[in-house]
Amino acid sequence: MKKIALFTSGGDAPGMNACIRSVVRSAIYLDLEVYGIKYGYDGMIRGEISKMESYSVSNIVQTGGTILKSARSEDFRTKEGREKAYKNLKKHGIEGLVAIGGDGTFTGANLFYDEFGIPVVGAPGTIDNDLYGSDYTIGFDTAVNTALDAIDKIRDTAASHDRVFFIEVMGRHSGYIAIQSGIGGGAEMVMVPETSTTIDDVIKKLREGRDNKKTSSIIVVAEGDEQGSALQIAERVKLETPKMDIRVTSLGHIQRGGGPTAFDRILASRLGLAAVEGLMNGQKNVMVGVIDNKITYTNLKLAISKSKPLNEELIRLTKILSI
Ligand code: F6P
Repeated sequence: MKKIALFTSGGDAPGMNACIRSVVRSAIYLDLEVYGIKYGYDGMIRGEISKMESYSVSNIVQTGGTILKSARSEDFRTKEGREKAYKNLKKHGIEGLVAIGGDGTFTGANLFYDEFGIPVVGAPGTIDNDLYGSDYTIGFDTAVNTALDAIDKIRDTAASHDRVFFIEVMGRHSGYIAIQSGIGGGAEMVMVPETSTTIDDVIKKLREGRDNKKTSSIIVVAEGDEQGSALQIAERVKLETPKMDIRVTSLGHIQRGGGPTAFDRILASRLGLAAVEGLMNGQKNVMVGVIDNKITYTNLKLAISKSKPLNEELIRLTKILSI
C-alpha cells in the first residue's frame, strides 16, 4: 500500500483534529502518501481530495471541530453516488481509507467495502460513545466534561432558587453522556433510553428528595429517553406537582465543540496510528478501538450492528448516590 486517504464524517467530535494529525503524520512516517477528503462522503463524490503534508496538520491537536469538515451525505446512500466516489479514489490511486466518524459513517464504509473492496479502517469519532468495539470514542470525554461544567453552573442557580432542573444532554440513542455527567454532577436522577423510568418514578424521587430536606434537584435526561425530551417530561411532571418550581435546559451543540481533553487527544492520537498500521498490516473492513486500554480491531459489520450496553455499575451508583 502506497497511498491512503482519510476523512471525517457525521457529527463532528472534539479530538477529530488530533486523530487527523495522527493519521497524517503516522502515514508519512511509514512512507505512505496521504490524502485528505473534505466534507466526508460528499467530498469523495465531488472529488474534493488533496494531498496532505506533515505541516498540513500543525497546530490542530488542541482544537475542536474538524479541519477536513464534515457532512451527513444523502448522495452516498445511492449506488450512483458511491460509484462516483470510487472513481474519484481510483483517479488518485487511493488504496486504503481511514474513516473517522460514528455508526452512520461506518455503515457507509461497510457498504462501500462490500461493493468495491477498498480496504477501510474506521476510527470511532463521536461524542455519543455508542460504538461496540471500543470502550471510548473520540470526543466523548470532552462532551461529558462540557456537560458537567454546565450542570455545575446550573446547580448554583438551582440551589439559590430552590428549583428543580431538567437538563437534556445529547447521545442520540445512547445514555452514556447522561450517566457520566449525571454521576459527576451529582444528579438526583438520570433518565436514559437503556432503562425505563416512568413519570411517576420521577415525581416519587422529587418528593422523596423534598422529604429528605433537599431544596433543589437536578435531573439529567438523555435526548433519546423513552419518555421524550426534557421539556416534555418537565411539562408532565409540572401537571402533577404544580407547586414545584421547575426549569428546563437543553445543552445542545455546545457539547460538540471546544478543545479536546487530554484523554481525547491521547485516545485520538493512539487510534490514528493504529488505523494506519491496521491498513498496512492488511486489515480491510474494521474499526480500531481500545478495550481495557489495549488497541483492538473489530469487524465493521459487528461494530455497527451490536449495541454497547451501559455499565450496570454506573446505573446502580447513580441510584445509591442520589438518595
Ligand atoms: O451523533 C452526535 C450527535 O451530536 C448526537 O448526540 C445528536 O443526536 C446528533 O449528533 C445531532 O445531530 P445534528 O448535528 O445533525 O443536529
